[in-house]
Amino acid sequence: MKPTPILPGSAIGVLGSGQLGRMLAMVAKRMGYKIYTYSPDENTPAGQICDQEFTAAYEDTNALQGFARQVDVITFEFENIPTTPLKAIQGRVPIYPNPEILYIAQNRLREKTFLAGKGFPVVPFYPVSSRSDLTQGLAQCDYPLVLKTAGFGYDGKGQAKVGSAQEAEIAFEALDGKPVILERFIDFQLEFSVIAARNPQGEIVHYAPIENIHQHHILDISLAPGRIPLEIAQQASKIAQELMETLNMVGVLCIEFFLTTDGRLLINELAPRPHNSGHLTIEAAITSQFEQQLRAICGLPLGACNFRQPAAMANLLGDLWEHGEPAWEKLLAFPEVKLHLYGKAQARAGRKMGHLTTLSDDVETAFKTIQEARSALKAPATCKS
Ligand SMILES: Nc1ncnc2c1ncn2[C@@H]1O[C@H](COP(=O)(O)OP(=O)(O)O)[C@@H](O)[C@H]1O
Ligand SMILES: [Mg+2]
Repeated sequence: MKPTPILPGSAIGVLGSGQLGRMLAMVAKRMGYKIYTYSPDENTPAGQICDQEFTAAYEDTNALQGFARQVDVITFEFENIPTTPLKAIQGRVPIYPNPEILYIAQNRLREKTFLAGKGFPVVPFYPVSSRSDLTQGLAQCDYPLVLKTAGFGYDGKGQAKVGSAQEAEIAFEALDGKPVILERFIDFQLEFSVIAARNPQGEIVHYAPIENIHQHHILDISLAPGRIPLEIAQQASKIAQELMETLNMVGVLCIEFFLTTDGRLLINELAPRPHNSGHLTIEAAITSQFEQQLRAICGLPLGACNFRQPAAMANLLGDLWEHGEPAWEKLLAFPEVKLHLYGKAQARAGRKMGHLTTLSDDVETAFKTIQEARSALKAPATCKS
């Protein structure tokens, strides 16, 4: 049976209320949909844009049922949504992607075990849930290693690079004995992501690889198209398409890759939703990753993924607010740079507050411009006399 497309005028439900929901809501509004967000918080980045903000716990099945009655399809923008309560609404309204995919992706151990089991190339890992596992694991791995919490990690939180058994033990203790995985620290040439979309009819599209530069394990700058050898891009494309089918994915999936110094491709992690590295698709691509998410979950044909021009994106972290408000007027003097702010009231160190995007005739110029533009934000604000 062909799924009936969910057309403009229908209502989209989003679980989670951060910037990814905000940018989805902007597209949904542009395309004539209603959009509602659900999360435990109020006055959220997504709630500020959505038609309605539902505030309730993710575990509150009555509230979830009430939310499900208002909408024609549900998606999520936040990975750590508990999946068990979603059983109360499954079957009543389509939920895309399938919560089973969310369940796999929200835990690094489940995710890597799944990928390795299906024959996809992943970073070598070792599961640790006790001190004795740790001792055994350390005996089998070479340093340096990265120790990561299995669940609830994002933006580099819950991870530590360790160079010795003693450092690993200290890091494990600091994580209160929570289950972790040990990973070989990968000596990579570069990191990149492939963002793909698939609809219930099985149509798959993906963007060209986007190169990612991290600082302190947090994404700092993305460049498109990434400076990646053609044969590597082709291998990554094949992996992306196979993975979308293996998962029976409906929605947007981001695959983070390492390209090792000896030329191998390894999957670092998956995100079954739009991804920070794809924010530049808003200005740079014919169809943004948020529009692809909307089209995919609504059972519509997917849009073109071509880039109009090379592009660069730089994140704006809360650290920029350390000495007061950033110098917006200096930034806005860059005529090719676009500012995105997420409506977060509190700026904290490491918190993603917004991002900048620029397009250029070549990626090197875009890279240079975006760094200059962001640095301009640190300039002392002009004195008003
Ligand atoms: N095993 C590893 N080897 C080298 N660098 C790593 C490794 N694991 C993580 N990193 C660095 O930290 C970043 C964030 O780690 P990741 O596992 O993607 O967690 P998060 O969920 O926080 O994005 C990666 O993009 C990479 O730059
Ligand atoms: Mg990551």
